Amino acid sequence: MRKILIIVTGLLLPSLVWGAGGGYTFPNDEIEIDWNDKAAMQNGARTFVNYCLSCHSAAYSRFNRVGEDLGISDELVRENLIFTTDVNGHKTKIGELMKTTMTPEYAEMAFGTVPPDLSLVARSRGVNWLYNYLRGFYVDESRIGLGINNGVFSNVGMPHVLADLQGLQIPKYRIQDDGQGNEQEIIVGFEIVKAGTMNKSDYDKTVHDLVAFLDYLAEPYKQTRKNVGTGVIIFLFVFLILAYALKREYWKDVH
Ligand code: HEC
Repeated sequence: MRKILIIVTGLLLPSLVWGAGGGYTFPNDEIEIDWNDKAAMQNGARTFVNYCLSCHSAAYSRFNRVGEDLGISDELVRENLIFTTDVNGHKTKIGELMKTTMTPEYAEMAFGTVPPDLSLVARSRGVNWLYNYLRGFYVDESRIGLGINNGVFSNVGMPHVLADLQGLQIPKYRIQDDGQGNEQEIIVGFEIVKAGTMNKSDYDKTVHDLVAFLDYLAEPYKQTRKNVGTGVIIFLFVFLILAYALKREYWKDVH
């Protein structure tokens, strides 16, 4: 009994200490992605083409395929998701890849680095990292030109492109011992200093949906794969019963 008590206390203790940090969980906020929630992914797709595609590509996906997977008609895809044009100034065709029109040379000049393709970023970084990253931009006057920094990507070269929606925020720090007797400040949360057009929960939802879309982009077949997997298991199970019944039928006269 005592052992159990010790184990339980041991498990609970870190969460108590964590709670003492003021209830903030940044940069460890987590999200659940519901793969059947097409509405969320459509919403994310809209945010993506409006706020991200100007700099980042998702060059493994085609507009019409995204429309098909997320249940958006070709017409609506043309109206709501395609804002880019080709070199001749014609609207990008629906069967085209989702590429940014910004040239790498220009990006290099403007940001000092080329914004990476975001097709697989949900896999390389993980959805929780993305969720914290896109909510983690904060005012940092020491960064000449950009004026912002990021709580999970220190000295990031990307501007806070969603500042209109989120507003501007400053970090809240907690002093922590780094294990060698030195004190260091770590960011545990933020405080809005200039309001955006959205309140916190709407902004969190917008980012959640955007990340859901990026997660879909990184693995468009995930849902199909899961369904096929379930089907295969059911088939094998039914087959097992049949095989067993057959075996009994064959062997019944042998003994
Ligand atoms: C104005 C151009 C611009 C826009 C618009 C933009 N980004 Fe970025 N983004 C960048 C640049 C530049 C970097 C590289 C930052 C660095 O390496 O310091 C970057 C980096 C990133 C990264 C980090 C990738 C990695 O793994 O290192 C992610 C994720 C990202 N952007 C997501 C987004 C999303 C989502 C949007 C839309 C809401 C968006 N970006 C809009 C310029 C942009």
